[in-house]
Amino acid sequence: MSLYEEYKATLQRITDVNFSAALLSWDQETYMPAGGAELRARQQATLAGISHEMTTSEALGKLLDQLENENSLDEKQKANVQQTLKDYRRAKKYSRAFVEELSACISEAFNAWQEAKAKSDFKIFAPKLKKLVELKRKECELLGYKEHALDALLELHEPGLTTKDVELLYNEVRSELVPFVKNIISKPLHSQDLLHISYDKGKQWDFSVHILKQMGFDFNYGRQDISVHPFTINFGAQDVRVTTRIDEFNLSDCVTGTIHEGGHALYEQGLPNSEYGLPSGEAISLGIHESQSRLWENNVGRSLSFWKGQFSELKKSFPEQLKNSTAEDIFSAINVVQPSLIRINADELTYHFHIMVRFELEKALFENKIQVEEIPAFWNQRYKDYLGIDVPKDSEGCLQDVHWSHGSFGYFPTYSLGSFYAAQFFAKAKKDIPTLEKEIESGNYSSLLKWLRENIHQYGKRYEAKELCERVTGEKLNFNYFMEYAKEKYGKLYSDK
Ligand code: CO
Repeated sequence: MSLYEEYKATLQRITDVNFSAALLSWDQETYMPAGGAELRARQQATLAGISHEMTTSEALGKLLDQLENENSLDEKQKANVQQTLKDYRRAKKYSRAFVEELSACISEAFNAWQEAKAKSDFKIFAPKLKKLVELKRKECELLGYKEHALDALLELHEPGLTTKDVELLYNEVRSELVPFVKNIISKPLHSQDLLHISYDKGKQWDFSVHILKQMGFDFNYGRQDISVHPFTINFGAQDVRVTTRIDEFNLSDCVTGTIHEGGHALYEQGLPNSEYGLPSGEAISLGIHESQSRLWENNVGRSLSFWKGQFSELKKSFPEQLKNSTAEDIFSAINVVQPSLIRINADELTYHFHIMVRFELEKALFENKIQVEEIPAFWNQRYKDYLGIDVPKDSEGCLQDVHWSHGSFGYFPTYSLGSFYAAQFFAKAKKDIPTLEKEIESGNYSSLLKWLRENIHQYGKRYEAKELCERVTGEKLNFNYFMEYAKEKYGKLYSDK
């Protein structure tokens, strides 16, 4: 066996363990009986331990050292080895004691967060969060960074992204998107009543399956189920699972949720199966992953063209509810812009103000400019400044998201990046496929999927996000694409108001 084959076999075994753990997680979120939780936690911990041992083994380290000096590798193989070396060296920076301390602290913080959110009392969460922030600061020192401590954590989710990059992006959001939204929300709202009459859950489910099929999701290599929070998970490109949720009185919940997760899933199904276990068979980053879900959800699924193509099918399922409505009515109703408290329910424009608050807060926290106890006050003031709303209680404010209790700092900006990358990719796809708009109007998404497969999916982690963006669109991430998209769409939607 050549060294490279040995390396490939080793990584594939590690991936087998990781995907087995992922399957247990999927089960936990979908079908596991409540009583199974205790043993499941144990099984997950065992698999995580095995995976960590394999990922940091001396044998793998030796193999990588030898491969680094191997001249017979082609470009793709070299890129894989470099990526694995980077991951290996990073994993080695964590001592076992630190990993265990962090993991125990996260469990405690998560439990405290759940209680604090239920009682809407930040004080219950604060001491645990304080300890967790201290540990994450330590982690930044372990990992190392050039300019800003938070860079070390951003790197974990979005390799190559720095605090400075994010600051520059939000400067543009502040100077362009904030005044644009201010103007829109001064106008009367479109009615959303149409979305909130009774829609049979079974028929909504059937429609969501129809949409997934139309998008090109391959049910031979995937399935959809129901869960409390929709998510996508995969065990290789040949088994990709999405979940959705259905609310009888909220038509957009299921449809947009399914399209969003469908976008994530198409990326995973499009990764090259021959590269299973290798970096070239993995998604690039959270930001690029989110660009795929948001391109489908927002640029496609919230467009008028999309609803022109799908309205007759939807009406077949709900003839009574939609008898006096048109595709334009659905389009207006699912694109209402309105400042709100809860991030996950926000429209696609004010959404970024929610992320901006979280980022500014994390930055202040890691710069020691604010203390954990000051989080609620900081949060509430920013919601007033950016969204013009008062936060009535912490459960609807700084306690709403689970991320910090998991220690996921430097994570939120990837959501904004996803939307901004999506706008830029979609603009390029429209340029490359002049008939795209017309195709979408007739419910045909095959050339769009083909474009995404060829330009993004097939490369796996071969390039960093920044490099991929330049290769695909000819330029760096440019916020103007998102602004242009927003101006064109919402300018029209609100012009008659
Ligand atoms: Co997503």
